[in-house]
Amino acid sequence: MEGLNARAPRDFAVAENRSIARDVYRMRLAGPAHFTAPGQFAAIAIPGFFLRRPFSALDYDDAGFEIAYKVVGGGTAAMCELAIGARLSAMTGLGNGFDASVDCAAPLLVGGGVGAPPLFGLAKALIARGLRPNVALGFRTAEDAMLVEDFEALGLTVALATEDGTAGARGYVTGSLPAHDYFFARGPEPMLAAVARSSGADGQLSFEQRMACGIGACMGCSCQTMFGYKRVCRDGPVLGKGEVRWPS
Ligand code: FES
Repeated sequence: MEGLNARAPRDFAVAENRSIARDVYRMRLAGPAHFTAPGQFAAIAIPGFFLRRPFSALDYDDAGFEIAYKVVGGGTAAMCELAIGARLSAMTGLGNGFDASVDCAAPLLVGGGVGAPPLFGLAKALIARGLRPNVALGFRTAEDAMLVEDFEALGLTVALATEDGTAGARGYVTGSLPAHDYFFARGPEPMLAAVARSSGADGQLSFEQRMACGIGACMGCSCQTMFGYKRVCRDGPVLGKGEVRWPS
């Protein structure tokens, strides 16, 4: 049954935990995950830390899910020390995720930095529909680039950009977006704003927001939209292009 039961904390075992870019690790958690859409996230309890941390699913299946996380503080530093077999509690299937069933013929996936991972599961969902999305990924420098080979292994073309030109084109990923009739974007807010402004197409944007409860109870993640305040954790993290009210 969907709903609260599906989101209840469950026990997972670390099945993989390896470095994939500078300070970024890819972790697979084996167990009873309940995701219904790419772009949903899990709230993971890290032993010794009070609040659960939100991590978007990179991919998921019946046997578990994967995340890619950046080491930015004590909690994520503790995560990268976890050995295979370590147990973690996670609430899965949180947030709305991307609507991969939207009407489009030439979708574009745009990811910036650690925003790229949830686009991988989305790419697989679009491919399952018979679509072949173009992918544009941007990073600060070559050492930060991740998942390029994974997208290419799906048969997709990746337009890679780095700010310093050490891999792919020099500049921002938004500098020259591949042709598309719809976009899905995930990354820092300035990147999302640039995609929304430069694309003439409609699209969906997934926001990276600090969260506390992760389940819509504390209002700590609320943001103003064209249709009033929404909670990024519960009503998002994905908003439609027409919903977003950008700061002026
Ligand atoms: Fe508590 Fe979103 S993090 S309402």
